[in-house]
Amino acid sequence: MKVSTKHIRMSVLVYMAVFILVVFVCVHSSGSKPNIVVLFADDVGYGDLACYGHPASYTPNLDGMAKNGMLFTSFYSAANLCSPSRAALLTGRYHIRSGIYPFVLGPDSTGGLPRNETTIANILKQQGYHTAMIGKWDLGIGKDMVHFPMHYGFDKYYGVPYVHGACPCETCFYPHEGCQQSVIGGDKCGFDKTYCPLFQNMRIIQQPVDLLTLAEKYVDFAKDFITDSANAGESFFLYLAYNHCHFPQFAGKRFHNFTQRGIYGDSLAEIDWSVGEILQQLRHSQIENNTLVFFTSDNGAALRDWYNGGSSGMLKCGKATTYEGGHRVPAIAYWPGQITAGVSSRDFLTTLDLLPTITKLSGSVLPKVTIDGMDMSSVLFGQAKSARDNLLYYPAYPDKKIGAYAIRYKHYKAHFYTEGSPQSGMYNADTDCHPNNTLHHDPPLLYDLDRDPGELYNMNKEPQYKDVLEEIKQVKTKLEDAMIWGTSQVNKPKDPRLEPCCIPGCDPFPSCCRCD
Ligand SMILES: *[C@@H]1O[C@H](CO)[C@@H](O)[C@H](O)[C@H]1NC(C)=O
Ligand SMILES: *[C@@H]1O[C@H](CO)[C@@H](O)[C@H](O)[C@H]1NC(C)=O
Ligand SMILES: *[C@@H]1O[C@H](CO)[C@@H](O)[C@H](O)[C@H]1NC(C)=O
Ligand SMILES: *[C@@H]1O[C@H](CO)[C@@H](O)[C@H](O)[C@H]1NC(C)=O
Repeated sequence: MKVSTKHIRMSVLVYMAVFILVVFVCVHSSGSKPNIVVLFADDVGYGDLACYGHPASYTPNLDGMAKNGMLFTSFYSAANLCSPSRAALLTGRYHIRSGIYPFVLGPDSTGGLPRNETTIANILKQQGYHTAMIGKWDLGIGKDMVHFPMHYGFDKYYGVPYVHGACPCETCFYPHEGCQQSVIGGDKCGFDKTYCPLFQNMRIIQQPVDLLTLAEKYVDFAKDFITDSANAGESFFLYLAYNHCHFPQFAGKRFHNFTQRGIYGDSLAEIDWSVGEILQQLRHSQIENNTLVFFTSDNGAALRDWYNGGSSGMLKCGKATTYEGGHRVPAIAYWPGQITAGVSSRDFLTTLDLLPTITKLSGSVLPKVTIDGMDMSSVLFGQAKSARDNLLYYPAYPDKKIGAYAIRYKHYKAHFYTEGSPQSGMYNADTDCHPNNTLHHDPPLLYDLDRDPGELYNMNKEPQYKDVLEEIKQVKTKLEDAMIWGTSQVNKPKDPRLEPCCIPGCDPFPSCCRCD
């Protein structure tokens, strides 16, 4: 058969048209799923950002996000400590269910987030997202690194996987200044542990990590990840959990002695800079309008370090307590074109709600397990009020026989138990925050959080609140009856040999784990 050149030209044109169409459909359909960036600060309290009223903080990028996005005033972390709050955020379930209690996991823990838990990354991965985590994982390492982020839906990991205060601290500020001294006994830097490792995926690339350049390294990794995803037309999930502003404070050259607020302010300013760099990259990659950026903190302010710690603002006590200062945290959602600029939401929301919200935004379905969060996408888009009406507050050392210490129900809060913590200050002027007081309250203390966010005026003796107190008791009982306590992962045996070491098996351990 004779094939004319005209014929060939036609077929080539048809093939090209089909090819262009296919490429267009692929790019378009993958691009239509929004990118998700979750920025999770450490120990940043309700009163720390300039946009939440701090008079000496320098946070222009976060303030800008708030000005052009949505700032929340009743947003809660589901837990008041590092490891539990991360478990709750990533699974949409109270940390009690996954056994991430009591207190926190360490580099020598054999336990970690159970592998059968479903994380936000797992869900998005199934939707074809490119996923990466940067920073403080804090959900265990374990034997053969079975609890590392790569096993929980993250394609990539880069960072110092646990708190830098659990490593010998040498240099926290340029030019090679030492680190702040702990003002509480027994909780100094971990001089008996291996030096802090910086990981790329499963491999240590620096030990001890150079804290002075860590923020820059995180930003470079984030920018590369965003650029690569954007160029490939892939939707992505970036979870950046900062090691800042946990004790001991640190910051690089650019932020040394930078703020009026001292070392905490300098560390916070470095987070803010990093947020600005990431937003700029999204803009540069022209995907800002298709990306939800959510900033919040793992728990309230650590008040242990006098004026070198965070601020709870008007709230009572801080980290590791079930007072508002332990759980209520700054939160900002930013999504140009989707979230109306400058709106503030008084809606009652929590970190538990991120998983269901992100699931909805990505067009995915919830895992078939009990989820404690609720979809808040309609709150973000200004279409509805939050449907949440309760939150259980578990103490730093939960006990199944006692259960939650407090509950928020609508705008009321009832404390059945209260207790302070060393994390909230041995020297706090408010002695309720001190670690010695564990008190049982019957009837429970009752506060109206809208009228009295500082939990100053207990109303449990006032007859008009009798009914609401009864209702709260019933709600709490019902919620706790449905709570299934996972086996504690933190109480599993410790093994110092699990502490990350760039020269496995070296001697004398742990100081030999050093690779410059
Ligand atoms: C994970 O496995 C443990 C042990 O078998 C089980 O108790 C727990 O319910 C499982 N969790 C989930 C989320 O499936
Ligand atoms: C930090 O700034 C203060 C006030 O500007 C100045 O007095 C001090 O010398 C500075 N410290 C260093 C180490 O640069
Ligand atoms: C993004 O959304 C904003 C606000 O609606 C709009 O002004 C801007 O032009 C949009 N940019 C792009 C690239 O679509
Ligand atoms: C708790 O400790 C503070 C001092 O840190 C002391 O003033 C207070 O009386 C103690 N309270 C109790 C109940 O022991």
